[in-house]
Amino acid sequence: MSNTYEAPRRLIKSAEDIEKMRVAGRLAAEVLDMIKPHIVPGVTTLELDTICHDYIVNKQDAIPACLGYGAAPGRPAFQHVICTSVNHVVCHGVPSENKVLKKGDILNIDVTVIKDGFHGDTNMMYLVGGETSILANRLCNVAQEAMYRGMAVVKPGATMGDIGHAIQKYVESERFSVVREYCGHGIGTTFHDEPQVLHYGQPNTGMILEEGMTFTIEPMVNAGVWQTKLLGDKWTVVTKDHKLSAQYEHTLLVTKTGVEVLTARPEEDLSRFNV
Ligand code: MF3
Ligand code: CO
Ligand code: CO
Repeated sequence: MSNTYEAPRRLIKSAEDIEKMRVAGRLAAEVLDMIKPHIVPGVTTLELDTICHDYIVNKQDAIPACLGYGAAPGRPAFQHVICTSVNHVVCHGVPSENKVLKKGDILNIDVTVIKDGFHGDTNMMYLVGGETSILANRLCNVAQEAMYRGMAVVKPGATMGDIGHAIQKYVESERFSVVREYCGHGIGTTFHDEPQVLHYGQPNTGMILEEGMTFTIEPMVNAGVWQTKLLGDKWTVVTKDHKLSAQYEHTLLVTKTGVEVLTARPEEDLSRFNV
């Protein structure tokens, strides 16, 4: 008996699909670059949301995927374009006119755009005012490196468990923890598709990667315990111990020899990855 399994054929993208995924990915990455100069002490997360909305709709002629997304029994649809997760907020922070950023805050902006029917999904950390505590700075760097360690495993024949294991091993070696309740995901014409991409796990388990699959890797790394708590708005996720959390996310394509980063930003050094 094997604890690995093949991907359903519908998860393998065609050449035409991949070209559209490249465009959507590039647009999502451009939002994260565009918003950077606006992230200064005194700005509210709602102001950042409005800037991203206008850019996506008017300049990119794209659709903000999060707006109106995710209604479920007991949970309203998300009413914004970006998630803004500050300090101890793990993910899905709701932009608000009451959330004024201050120097030393760490902010994650997560954006997903739809272009020509396909999704691009990416997030990154920003240091408000350009600097933060030594701990917060290290946490952000570890979250980014955790994502890269997972990406370094991606190639045909590797498994989802290989990705999760690489991330978990690295994060725990840095004496931080990996959030369990939220994960990466397949992506394409569907925002959150199969497979679930867990950021922890055992090597040689789970779905086997194949050329043409597209999914996100988006580890959430906590300074304290991995457990989280959902706030009363039914969206905002915070750390149970209220210690800091950081996250990075890319949308990825499995290539013949490795990984193509569909949401790469120009300033990012991706030279270690085999495309
Ligand atoms: N972009 C998030 C992800 O990485 C999902 C946000 S859903 C929202 O999968 F509704 F909160 F925006
Ligand atoms: Co995202
Ligand atoms: Co995602």
